[in-house]
Amino acid sequence: MESTAHTLGVGICEGKKVLANARRLYKPPSGEGIIPRLAADHHAQKAPLVLEEALGTAGISLREVDLFAFSRGPGIGQCLRVSCATSKFLASKFKKPILGINHCHAHLQIAKGMLGFHDPLYVYVSGANTQIITEGEVAGKTGTLGRASAAGKANTSSHQRFFVLGETLDMGLGNLFDVFAREAKFAYPHGSEVARMASKGSYFPLPYTVKGMNFAFTGLLSAAVSEVGKRKTEDICHSLMETAFAELCEASERALCLTGKREVVACGGVAQNKRFCDMLSQMCQPHGAKFGVLPAEYNADNGAMIAYTALCEWKRGKREKMQGLSPNGYWRIDEVF
Ligand code: FE2
Repeated sequence: MESTAHTLGVGICEGKKVLANARRLYKPPSGEGIIPRLAADHHAQKAPLVLEEALGTAGISLREVDLFAFSRGPGIGQCLRVSCATSKFLASKFKKPILGINHCHAHLQIAKGMLGFHDPLYVYVSGANTQIITEGEVAGKTGTLGRASAAGKANTSSHQRFFVLGETLDMGLGNLFDVFAREAKFAYPHGSEVARMASKGSYFPLPYTVKGMNFAFTGLLSAAVSEVGKRKTEDICHSLMETAFAELCEASERALCLTGKREVVACGGVAQNKRFCDMLSQMCQPHGAKFGVLPAEYNADNGAMIAYTALCEWKRGKREKMQGLSPNGYWRIDEVF
């Protein structure tokens, strides 16, 4: 089950096959962002319907589910509690195991698995998260990088973990487009509307901020908003998108050169943007790297990616006790072990 932000999703997987991927979206009131209490109410109300729909599509009953899983974080606290409470209830009722899955990890895992990639550089672009990530096997204690381990305990075995090579220094890429669209009074869904307008516009320079493999968007946002009403909206959208995507491409290329990876994956909600994927694909070509992106259904927030990742983690030997499984709204990808 997925419920980190505006999407309530229920996915059912068997091995690497997705049997169902049902979802409903909370739409904020016109001109506003997500209101946590209303989004959580929406998810709680729709949960039985989406669950029934997923079971119907998969052609199974709840009794046949072997493992329950939910998106434990990062995300909006009130929204996270819906999938956590529902999954815990179902796992208790049917006496089955349960896993709490990191939402960002799920985006990466399903992209790598479904594309058949082995060791990609991940360009993870969603509303709140924008990061350039690698993964690798490391020996030694867990929980020594950044903040304390989400698991709360250290161990000394070798383990797979993710490394954030570069990330936004302020806001996420999706939130950049979302905030701009609200300022420009666009209809929902904001990202699609900015993309539609951008396809008809021309370029003019806007602030561009890349520091090593990190990047920032607030100066770009302020400058774009200050142009509203002075220039053609299409031109502002076009320049905003081109500038933001170019920042990501420059930082990603630097990461690609540093790591020598041969595969690049775009994942997360903004990876549905065709122009962004075209730019990344062009960036990969001179380096002989293969570029891949999944269909939109699996890049938007969805339950299938949670189910898919839970099965991978289960096969890897991950086991969790239900009592300790509470939502973690600030769970970074580099705290996943
Ligand atoms: Fe997401």
